[in-house]
Amino acid sequence: MGQTVRHLLSAADLSREEIFFLLDAAAALKRRPQRLLEGRELALLFEKPSLRTRVSFQVAMRHLGGETIYLAPQEVGLGEREAIKDVSRVLARYVDVVAVRTYGQEIVEEYARYSSIPVINALTNEEHPCQALADLLTVREKLGNDLRGRSIAFVGDGNNVASSLVVTAASLGMDVRMASPRGYMLPENIITEASARAEESGGSLTLTNEPEEAVRGAELLYTDVWTSMGQEREAEQRRIDFAGFQLNRQLVSLAAPGALIMHDLPAHRGEEITDEVMESEGSIIFDQAENRIWAQAAVVAFLLGVADRIEH
Ligand code: CP
Ligand code: NVA
Repeated sequence: MGQTVRHLLSAADLSREEIFFLLDAAAALKRRPQRLLEGRELALLFEKPSLRTRVSFQVAMRHLGGETIYLAPQEVGLGEREAIKDVSRVLARYVDVVAVRTYGQEIVEEYARYSSIPVINALTNEEHPCQALADLLTVREKLGNDLRGRSIAFVGDGNNVASSLVVTAASLGMDVRMASPRGYMLPENIITEASARAEESGGSLTLTNEPEEAVRGAELLYTDVWTSMGQEREAEQRRIDFAGFQLNRQLVSLAAPGALIMHDLPAHRGEEITDEVMESEGSIIFDQAENRIWAQAAVVAFLLGVADRIEH
């Protein structure tokens, strides 16, 4: 069992200092890619579809001089064809690090308990820590490295993307606002974690059911799909429940002048965000997607113990 191995399963696995360290490391690797992982191998064990996460990990590893193996949803059958603990122990004999995209957080936690190599959460129903790091890297590029007091409003579902973002942004001392319909608020454990981090860093966390309240005067507006992967059967009900939570011209007009628009992608245009807002001048959505490469390069280097060799 890999008790001493470091994993990234949740945004809360990283201390404030480590978040700063990773964001600086990501920026350094973006300025100058460095071949720190020659001969090292990353497995991508994915039980859901992906464009960004898969490709950005593959490109990141190539920049670092390492390699990847991609295992598609139909291939491994985690917990079905084979027990999670067996897959975990076998892959650890073949590769140096693994990124797992799956359903419940408990699956990636069980996987990690048996892994003698680092495990990275590449999205679960509950968390998406790699996305949050890329997002904050992007925000730093736009607003500067010191994000204390800068305001970010997330409008939408309190699940994976929002949870990891809120914990990470609160760690950096941001003014974090979260608007969700009743029944779709952030889980208690995330609220507790983010509030404690906000307190420590001088930030704040405001929860509301009114999108207008969250958005008013905010410098950054973020949304995500109303129906996440695996929830397709709830799509019709969710369209009803999330009505009024669309990032559209009217909602954006309440934000700070020149507010920046964020989305993790894929977007369901016309649902959580309009075409017009996605294509608007303030959109930094594709910068977020690009920065997945560098945030994840930093994470892999960190977990494999070579991040202190990154030249800044
Ligand atoms: N944002 C994100 O994780 O995209 P993919 O689902 O395409 O990987
Ligand atoms: N909340 C979305 C994020 C996709 C990157 C989902 O889980 O499908």
